[in-house]
Amino acid sequence: MAAASGTPSASAAGTPNTARMYDYYLGGKDNYAADREAAEQVLANAPEIRRVAMENRAFLGRVVGFLAGEAGIQQFIDIGTGLPTRGNVPEIALAAAPGAQVVCVDHDPVVCAHARALLPGTGNVEVVEAAMEDPGAILGNPAVTGLIDFSRPAAVLFFSVLHFADDASRIVRAFREAMAPGSYLALSHGVAEQVPGGSGPASQVRQIYGRSDSPRGAFRTRAEVLALFDGFELVTPGLVPVADWRPSRATSAAGRTWLLGGVGRKPDRP
Ligand SMILES: C[S@@+](CC[C@H](N)C(=O)[O-])C[C@H]1O[C@@H](n2cnc3c(N)ncnc32)[C@H](O)[C@@H]1O
Repeated sequence: MAAASGTPSASAAGTPNTARMYDYYLGGKDNYAADREAAEQVLANAPEIRRVAMENRAFLGRVVGFLAGEAGIQQFIDIGTGLPTRGNVPEIALAAAPGAQVVCVDHDPVVCAHARALLPGTGNVEVVEAAMEDPGAILGNPAVTGLIDFSRPAAVLFFSVLHFADDASRIVRAFREAMAPGSYLALSHGVAEQVPGGSGPASQVRQIYGRSDSPRGAFRTRAEVLALFDGFELVTPGLVPVADWRPSRATSAAGRTWLLGGVGRKPDRP
């Protein structure tokens, strides 16, 4: 892993880190031995996780392309942004809508240091180090208020991150209240109802993440994830396995579901 101002101390590097485990699934090089070991334990229980991580990235790309294109959104807040990799939110949003404004938020200082070093310094993109559990700190952060005008439609993105929170509905509700009508919520979230092999692999995976830098949270049921869209109208095709959300080619996700994804629009008149 390249040195950056946020390079973790030796002890932090010994704790499996969710951003770097995810980087390992995606075939990246920004990870340490502790991350690789934990990720390999996850893959031993659930070999399909690597494919699901790639499906999640592809979902993210299609969703941001839809929001910046068809939906006409120009303002994005990407919470739990992760280590910048090809096809990141600012890259896709700015390609589709060159004037777009994007704020990337992550609680991990190393992720933020890498994002600051690699993302375009055009003034369209800001990186904010904050935890999603404190929505007020994000919504009131000067870098956010300087770039995002909450009186106009914006998209709030939670790709593969809300399952690291104990109280996901409180977090989403706080953002919903700040969002103007015509804004969008997009998320992907871990579920354990239909994973290959039943509940055994899911509880093993949960235990491994319980030793990571993001030990909290839970897999939720489909009904619980759906409830996160309260106050939003789901756009077609609704809440589905991430590979099945407006796929660019036919997929076969039926029956295997680690990550559900969806996009909701805050109605003009609630
Ligand atoms: C699995 S990665 C997802 C990255 C990216 N959103 C994607 O879907 O490709 C989860 C990211 O969420 C971040 N994260 C975990 N818990 C968080 C929290 N409480 N607040 C903010 N970010 C968090 C991690 O640091 C990591 O970068």
